[in-house]
Amino acid sequence: METVLSGIRPTGNLHLGNYFGALRNFIDMQNEHNCFFFIADYHSLTTHPTPHDLHGNVRQILVEYLAAGLDPEKSTLYVQSDVPEVIELYLFLNMNAYVGELERCTSFKDKIRQQPENVNAGLLTYPTLMAADILIHRATKVPVGKDQEQHLEMARTFGNRFNRLYNCNYFPEPQAFNFGKELIKIPGLNGSGKMGKSEGEGNAIFLADEPEAIRKKVMKAVTDAGPTVPNQAKPEAIQNIFQLMRVVSAPETLSYFEEQYNSCHIRYGDMKKQLAQDMIAFTEPIRERIKAISADEAYVSRAARIGREKARESASKTIREVREIIGFKSF
Ligand code: TYM
Repeated sequence: METVLSGIRPTGNLHLGNYFGALRNFIDMQNEHNCFFFIADYHSLTTHPTPHDLHGNVRQILVEYLAAGLDPEKSTLYVQSDVPEVIELYLFLNMNAYVGELERCTSFKDKIRQQPENVNAGLLTYPTLMAADILIHRATKVPVGKDQEQHLEMARTFGNRFNRLYNCNYFPEPQAFNFGKELIKIPGLNGSGKMGKSEGEGNAIFLADEPEAIRKKVMKAVTDAGPTVPNQAKPEAIQNIFQLMRVVSAPETLSYFEEQYNSCHIRYGDMKKQLAQDMIAFTEPIRERIKAISADEAYVSRAARIGREKARESASKTIREVREIIGFKSF
């Protein structure tokens, strides 16, 4: 049995990138593995220090996790800030994380560019907090999208370094994980490489989007004038809509439009209509469950409560053992 851990920041609703990168296939793993799914609300303060409605955002992700199929009885579904043990491990890991390696992290460099007015120490140590999330449950498999690959590498570095420094074999090596050989990157609709909550208007399709909103965004997706030569290579924006079709549509639908493209007969309007329809059909049951679960306060609170209890049990065991390994003793 593996220990699997997946996390999401509560800085916006879940979109199809989150769903395919970190959630969908792992729902089936709940039956066989020890699964943790959490909401990274401490992390969200690195970019949103004064959130408008932190609790509401966390609740929304909790509801969407449940609606996507997570079972709070089988998995441990929790909020990061409900488990303060994470912060103690974060502190220990920070003592052995070097400023140079943190400064070289790609996501740190990106963030410096995006928010030059707020280059805070939390941003710099984002990877150690993320390593603490993973190592606190001694997770071995971490479902993530391609964008988190380097963070996973750093979590392995910090865990291995701890083992070496304290001459133990305590932390296993966490592996970034998705089904298939590669980590996934779901593209956005506005021609930008990645679907994301901060990648601009119209870029992301959210699980909670109403059909009309989905249709509007898809019909506005960036395309070009169309191929002029048979079997022409696809530019990035065109690859994007094909890639989106690959994840939500039937294989026959995808091959039909591939053929149309290769023979230069493609009509992007028709393709987008089909894509929108398939996205609506795909998200519909989840959207309905989001509404139903959101209205059931007792269920949501109970899910958070049992998650917190299970997560703290696992985390406090690790902290007890880590303290012992380092040499902390009570008088
Ligand atoms: P976040 O909140 O940006 O995204 C949550 C998860 O969704 C994946 N993802 C994608 N996958 C494929 N295509 C996309 N377009 C796409 N957009 C997002 C992300 O790779 C991620 O798996 N640092 C993390 C949160 C975190 C975490 C952790 C994750 C904190 N601690 C420990 C795993 C383990 C983040 O910002 O994810």
